[in-house]
Amino acid sequence: MSYRIRPAKKFRGRWQASGDKSLTHRAFVFNALGEGEAVLRGLNGGEDCARSRALVQALGARVEPVNGEKGAWRITGRGGRFRAPTATLDAGNSGTTLRLACGLLAAQSFASTLDGDASLRRRPMARIQAPLEALGAQLHLSDGGTAPLTVQGGPLQGCDYNSPVASAQVKSAFLLAALQAEGASRFREPWLSRDHSERLLARMGAVLQCDDDGALRLEGPQSLRCVDLDVPGDLSSAAFLIAAGVLVEGGNVLVKNLGVNPTRTGFLDVLERMGGRFALYHPREAGGEPLADLLAQHSGLEAVEVGPEEVPRLLDEIPILAVLAARAQGVSRFRGLGELRVKESDRLARTAALLAAFGAKASVEGDDLRVEGGARLRGTEVDAGGDHRLAMAASVLALLSRGESRVTGTACVATSFPEFPGLMRRFSDGALAQDGER
Ligand code: S3P
Repeated sequence: MSYRIRPAKKFRGRWQASGDKSLTHRAFVFNALGEGEAVLRGLNGGEDCARSRALVQALGARVEPVNGEKGAWRITGRGGRFRAPTATLDAGNSGTTLRLACGLLAAQSFASTLDGDASLRRRPMARIQAPLEALGAQLHLSDGGTAPLTVQGGPLQGCDYNSPVASAQVKSAFLLAALQAEGASRFREPWLSRDHSERLLARMGAVLQCDDDGALRLEGPQSLRCVDLDVPGDLSSAAFLIAAGVLVEGGNVLVKNLGVNPTRTGFLDVLERMGGRFALYHPREAGGEPLADLLAQHSGLEAVEVGPEEVPRLLDEIPILAVLAARAQGVSRFRGLGELRVKESDRLARTAALLAAFGAKASVEGDDLRVEGGARLRGTEVDAGGDHRLAMAASVLALLSRGESRVTGTACVATSFPEFPGLMRRFSDGALAQDGER
């Protein structure tokens, strides 16, 4: 699949933000472990979250659509005891599905094998092996510390674990296992990663404490009760349209129902520092998560410095922040991006290469990204290489470039944001067309 994209003459529109991907995974996985039944609404309709849904179904949780309501599912939890899967559990492209599932399965009395697509098979899994083995499970990884892998579950004992990486996937895998372990567990990470799991667990009746040193502490075992959820919109997806609204002359974009959890809003903080014009309206809360409506409008931008301590709060937004930096005045630096190398692709190298392909000046220096703003962008043909966030960043670059562009390998966009091409087409008055359209 591919997009053909012309320079945008306008970028205007409003929409109800698509459901948050991180929260949708957790809604399925945590409720599958819980007791009782819950109705989940506003869920992300992408392929990654469908993998989490299918995975908990394969483990015996009942998940059914709520009659005709889009993005709504009723789930019946297993109360802590799953059915042994009869086949390999396939996480597709989704690191969150695979890593959370390992935490879920670590305390079960059977072995499970998990696998994924070629991209997921390249991503590091030793980062979940260490904490789950510290609790007493056994993980057998493929050579190179990757999937396919087997989790041999069993009785777990609480432990203290210091994670070398700030990763919400690692933290969530640990929490899922520690809840099923005997005794106290503590988890520390170098910087706070997104805290959706902690918020959801508290709503499900778990007792979780934060120690003075920032460590999360819990006493196991604890049971969870299923809770109804209304999932807010995904800022990581909306960021592409917000950026296009700021960058395209006359741009005006209204996003309703946007999740603005402070562990996720680094993108907005940086956009503000760059002088991007946007405002948040009607702050409110749903299901323990803050949300608001956001209006973004065209404005000039200044270069920005982003430090490593900010990275966990804007990790998935680096490609689109780099696009904003390419249109800003001055030289921007994003420091401490090592984690980007182990995403759906080596997203650090590929973000710099993507910008360069459109004529922007970008380079990787160690784990840092340097972007020189102001270069004239020219339309080109690029391949997204299976990375959804690069495909969407390329599409925004194309709107700003002279001449027509082609972005190939765009099927991956459906992993997180299937509505993206339709919205881009609508907001830009047809500047984006898929394959044979137009
Ligand atoms: C996610 C955590 C992040 C993020 C990913 C989703 C999650 O990864 O990049 O898209 O839902 O827990 P890390 O585990 O590296 O924080």
